[in-house]
Amino acid sequence: MTISHGIDLTGQCAIVTGASTGIGEAAAIELARAGADIVVNHRDSHDDAADTVAKVEALGRRAVAIQADISKEEDVLRLFAESEAKLGPIDIVFSNAGRQKDAKIGDMTLDDWNAVIGVNLTGAFLIGREAIKHFRKKGLREDVSRARGKLIFNSSVHQIIAWAFHVNYAASKGGIHMLMQSLAQEVSVEKIRVNSVAPGAIATAINAEERAHNLEGMMRLIPYGRVGDPEDVGRAVAWLASDASDYVVGQTIFVDGAMTLYPEFRGNG
Ligand code: BGC
Repeated sequence: MTISHGIDLTGQCAIVTGASTGIGEAAAIELARAGADIVVNHRDSHDDAADTVAKVEALGRRAVAIQADISKEEDVLRLFAESEAKLGPIDIVFSNAGRQKDAKIGDMTLDDWNAVIGVNLTGAFLIGREAIKHFRKKGLREDVSRARGKLIFNSSVHQIIAWAFHVNYAASKGGIHMLMQSLAQEVSVEKIRVNSVAPGAIATAINAEERAHNLEGMMRLIPYGRVGDPEDVGRAVAWLASDASDYVVGQTIFVDGAMTLYPEFRGNG
């Protein structure tokens, strides 16, 4: 077995959920740049998914777009079956798809709550469970990786930073934190690595309105002085998927320009 000291994913296949745009697209590209073939999952963005596929193929890797609503069990089962049929055994899964549906608590409907929990938390559970079952079936392939499988969740700084007017979203991300750690505790003995990335404010569609109307307010929360790029997170995902992070298990990598350092406390408190 050769132990690579860099980020080398040659010979491995990755599923990225919600890979048509934003952080999912950037992660798909960074994983492909490191050598992986990519399943580009999307819910209803055929054109954007085709665009991600083209970008992966331009890097010399294989890619396939597969439509699936990850909050639905039958869709998730089909996503894994089709992925394996088209690209072969899956070594890496980035559970990325997520959404926001913000409201003040008095106005938040049960639909608002269920919509966000359904995709962000139930979807993460379904994707995580199937990833682990498929890693087990695949077994260890020591020629490509020291681990049997790498499962990475997209969490958020809001897994620890409370977020008024976004309780459904913050609750879903707090849930992902314990989902990730409990799964890691359960399956690391099988050489399956489970970790999370936790982005802060990254320039994607999810916060486009906030960036347009309250950039100054946002910047006060980011000591490092810039909004993040999707690639900032994509590179962390590629690292967590690679043997360069082989001894990192059950951890969250915050990619947030120091947002989680609570900058309001600088010279205060
Ligand atoms: C949210 C963004 C927000 C960022 C920082 C993310 O998880 O999706 O809307 O800008 O956290 O608050």
